[in-house]
Order: sequence, then C-alpha cells, then structure tokens
Amino acid sequence: MSTGFTPYKLPEEYSDIRTATRDVCDAGVAPHAAEADQTASFPAKSYEALKAADLHAPHIPAEYGGAGIDALGTAIVIEEVARACASSSLIPAVNKLGSMPLLLDASEELKQRYLPPVADGEAMFSYCLSEPEAGSDAASMKTRAVRDGDEWVLDGVKRWITNAGVSEFYTVFAVTDPEAGPKGISAFVVEKDDAGVSFGKPEKKLGIKGSPTAEVYFDSVRIPAGRLIGEVGRGFSLAMRTLDHTRVTIAAQALGIAQGALDIAAAYAGEREQFGKPIAKFQAVQFLLADAAMKITAARELTYAAAARSERVDADLTYFGAAAKCFASDAAMEITTDMVQVLGGYGYTQDFPLERMMRDAKITQIYEGTNQVQRVVMARELLRGNAF
Ligand code: CAA
Repeated sequence: MSTGFTPYKLPEEYSDIRTATRDVCDAGVAPHAAEADQTASFPAKSYEALKAADLHAPHIPAEYGGAGIDALGTAIVIEEVARACASSSLIPAVNKLGSMPLLLDASEELKQRYLPPVADGEAMFSYCLSEPEAGSDAASMKTRAVRDGDEWVLDGVKRWITNAGVSEFYTVFAVTDPEAGPKGISAFVVEKDDAGVSFGKPEKKLGIKGSPTAEVYFDSVRIPAGRLIGEVGRGFSLAMRTLDHTRVTIAAQALGIAQGALDIAAAYAGEREQFGKPIAKFQAVQFLLADAAMKITAARELTYAAAARSERVDADLTYFGAAAKCFASDAAMEITTDMVQVLGGYGYTQDFPLERMMRDAKITQIYEGTNQVQRVVMARELLRGNAF
C-alpha cells in the first residue's frame, strides 16, 4: 500500500478500499444496525462480516498478520462502516485506539504477542484512560501501578471504556509516581482474564448503543513486568500521541455518519411528493442538502489531510488530528439534525435510520476529547507555531 497522498485525487487503491468496504457493509453491516441500536447489543454479525473481509482491524501491519492498510485507508474503512452503522465502526476504530500505544512504543515481544490475535479477529483491544474523576483532565487519574518484584500490581477504576467486556486486551494508563504529575504515568497491557479484572454494567446511552461502554475495575491485578508499554513515566505522552492518530478515526466516523444521513435524505427528497411535486424541487429542501454536501466535502478533505499526516507523523499531526475530529463531528451533528428535518415527521421515527444517526453523531463531539478540548489543543499548537 502506497502512503502517497494528493488532496485533489486519491490513488485508485483508496477508491478500491471504499468500494470493497461499502459492498461488505451493504450486505453484512447495514442490515443489523437497527437491531443493534434497538436492543443495545453488540453487533456480532457485523463483526463477523468485517472479520471475513479483514476490515475489523485494518491498520495492523502485515508483519503482525494484519491487512497493513495505512492511516488514510483505515479512515476510509471506518467512514464506510459508520455510513452503515456507527456502533460497528467502533470495532476497527477502537481496535486501532487500543493497539496504537503498542505500535508506537512497545517492545517487539509485546507486539508479537498481542497484535496477531487482533489481526486474526480472535481478540479486540480497548483503551483505558478516563476515570470517574479524570475525563478532560486525563493527567489527574488515580489508578495506581506499583512494582512488586517481577510484577506490576494495578488498582483503580477506568470509566467510559468502549467495548469493555467484549475486548480481550486493554491498554491501561496508571500512576507509577504520584509526585511526578503527567511524567508519573505509565502504560500497560492488561488481559480480560487477568485475576482481579472485572466490568461494570453497560452504560445506558443516547447513541452508539451497539457498542458496549462500561467501567473496568482493577483489584490488585498482578501482571508480568514485561507488560509495561515503552518506558516508565512516558505513559501520558504516549496516551496523547495515540489520540493524535485516533482523533482522525473519529473524524472519519463522524464523516461516515453524516454521509449516510445525506444519502438517505437525498433519496427520500427525490421521492416524497408534497404540493404536487417531489420535495427535492423546493429550494428550502435543496439548501439543506447543499449545505450538508458542502460541509461533508470540507470535513472529508480535512480528515484525509490529517490521515496523511498520521501516516507520516508530521509535526502538525496534533493540530490536524484535533481540527479534523472537531470539524467533522460538529458537521455531523448539524447535518444529521438537518437531514431529520428533510424527512419531517418520518425522520423522527424509527421507520428511518435518521434519528439513530442523529443520536449516534452526538458522541463524536464528546469522546476522544470533547470538542472544547480539541479547541484547546488547536490553540496551543497554533501559538507554538506547530499548526502549519
Ligand atoms: N504528543 C506528545 N506529547 C504530548 C502531547 C502530544 N500530543 N500532548 C501532551 N504531551 C506531553 C506534553 O509535552 C507534556 O510533557 P512535557 O512537560 O515533557 O512537555 C505532558 O504530555 C503534559 O502535557 P500538557 O501539559 O499539555 O497536559 P495537560 O494536563 O494540560 O492536558 C489536555 C492537556 C490536552 C487537556 C489532555 O489532558 C487531553 O487531551 N484531555 C482529553 C483527554 C481525552 O481525549 N480523553 C479521551 C479518552 S479516550 C476515549 O474517549 C475512549 C473511547 O473508548 C472512545
């Protein structure tokens, strides 16, 4: 896979990825989206369809048994899965989030042990940063890891963990030196079956109901010393570097939700007749559709530009990751709301997927850092001269 990128015309291999993913999603993901939402259950059939096509963790490099798709290709996969089902798009997105710290900093031994099962679809990987009292202020976490001989012992609670209980593996950030602030945080791999790991009840959420979100509890969890990712004290910066990459995937998810909503609303407007003609003939409706298309185009260009920087790890990735996530998610919220409006009363019912898309879009403005945090990150990078 080439890492080349032009903002004006994508190489054909990326349109091939889009076409192949759309085919898989039309047949194997979209048909299960409403049920996953209405029953708040993990879309196991969608996971099977994604696994069969090797789209469940496309970012894992070939040397660890993965598809080896680059950041832009992975963003396109997530965009297309989200167009059909936002909950299902969290399968490739969170697999990337959970495993990215290993790809960035882990020993070869850890990578060889934990990445192939994710590539094979035998395991998923979640990311444990937030806590009940440490959300936007991630560095104020309380979960402790204490060294005891050849082991680390972890105690604490993590909150808002996507795919908690479904994933086999967890990247866990914990305090190893309480006096050292952000430099006293380290990262570890914890397994679902490690003694002392347990899970809370799934949160009852507004959207992405097919993706379980729960607390994860660590009660004197003993893990081998070799499960430390990278160096002691480098965990916070690793958490932030990871998010620089994966905010791009949330941008892609938001983009896919918005595109899905526009596609349905445009088709509906062409068929629904009022005052003797299709409502698509009225400028009031045309303007809603045109605004949506314009915002999607802008969000897509920014997201793909950020993905190209993610691949090259350019100095302005922090800015672009935050900007893409913030812009695309704000756009997705506006667009899904407007597309419900195009369908009128029908848009407000479960007869169409628009109301689900509007509920699903909301989380993209919140997770992987609220859009207020993204603006803080962008302003800091701008003022440091790292934005362009
Ligand atoms: N890359 C590398 N290092 C970075 C970095 C980056 N992008 N950002 C910060 N750091 C380093 C800093 O350089 C600094 O180290 P030095 O002192 O050596 O320079 C250290 O980390 C501390 O940085 P800050 O002083 O900037 O830290 P802060 O406490 O002010 O926090 C923040 C900044 C941007 C608000 C950060 O806390 C943040 O991003 N908060 C939001 C957290 C978040 O996104 N949570 C989402 C959880 S994941 C999720 O949603 C899960 C899911 O399942 C979908």
